Amino acid sequence: MAFNHDTTGDEVVAKFADRVKGRTFLLTGPTLEGVGGATLLALARASPKAFILVGRNPVKVQPVIDAIAAVDPTITTVFAQADFTSLASIRSAAEKIFSSPAAATIDVIINNAGVMATPYSKTVDGIETQLATNHIAPFLLTNLLLPRLAKNGTIVSVSSSAHRASTGNYDDYNYEHTEYDPFRAYGQSKLATVMFTTSLVSRGYRAITLHPGLIFSGMQRHTNMEELAANAKKAREADPAYQGPGAPKSLAQGCSTSLVAALDPSVPNGAYLFDCQVETPKAEGLDKEKAEKLWKLSEKLVGQQF
Ligand SMILES: NC(=O)c1ccc[n+]([C@@H]2O[C@H](COP(=O)([O-])OP(=O)(O)OC[C@H]3O[C@@H](n4cnc5c(N)ncnc54)[C@H](OP(=O)(O)O)[C@@H]3O)[C@@H](O)[C@H]2O)c1
Repeated sequence: MAFNHDTTGDEVVAKFADRVKGRTFLLTGPTLEGVGGATLLALARASPKAFILVGRNPVKVQPVIDAIAAVDPTITTVFAQADFTSLASIRSAAEKIFSSPAAATIDVIINNAGVMATPYSKTVDGIETQLATNHIAPFLLTNLLLPRLAKNGTIVSVSSSAHRASTGNYDDYNYEHTEYDPFRAYGQSKLATVMFTTSLVSRGYRAITLHPGLIFSGMQRHTNMEELAANAKKAREADPAYQGPGAPKSLAQGCSTSLVAALDPSVPNGAYLFDCQVETPKAEGLDKEKAEKLWKLSEKLVGQQF
């Protein structure tokens, strides 16, 4: 049967077990109450060689490390602490990863960490928090780690169906002249994820992006069901193709689309997945010129060219 909304991470891993065994996976946002923890535990059941965990809070990451060891104590786990609201913190995590023999070759990078609908704030580097956490941080971390990516490696970046509510214009990325709407800003940051994937493909990498589905996790801590429904309505008005985030999923189901992106070699390069299947994202996400403009802005904001 084809994978769909109800497919679990375990089912995906069982089908592609040979693409997990002996390989090294890096994942950001490894916490048990979220998609990241579920993704790792599904992978852990098929004998990966190592996990590189990039997380903010050691107290939240340790239970993930313990749960992985309970599944398979032979898996090497490396924890690199990074707060995605600080470019210095991301650079220091990358240095730790570089110095770790377990990370000599990374087969799959899964950019999973994120925040949604946060009240307006800027990071220590002066960048609006959602764009910084959801796009600029994975942009920097991925680019720093690309020299370690295996030749046939894959970069998976978790976007959201909310990307459809955005414009793809980043001229006023800090909302100095535009009203800040927490959901639209989330959508902008997640459209940036689709554009980042498009740019990585242009540079010759295998990169896939996706909407994981609607999963009740830490993601909703700044919102509630009424706001989510109102936002979905706004997104439908902005893009009639938008069908909403889908019916709710369990964590076990919520990690399946990331795992299809990470493991299924038949997924076309540059694809956007929804419910484990290829879907067309908002047109701006595939616009190479706009994606390149965002790449240049991202380079400017991190102070380094890639
Ligand atoms: N859940 C959904 O319905 C849904 C829908 C569409 C897309 N997504 C996307 O799916 C991905 C996973 O989300 P989730 O549902 O698993 O949410 P979650 O439970 O809130 O997990 C998000 C992860 O990101 C980490 N994170 C947040 N801010 C960070 C920062 N400044 N530095 C480093 N790490 C940070 C969190 O760490 P802490 O625990 O320390 O905060 C956590 O590990 C996100 O990219 C999200 O945008 C989710």
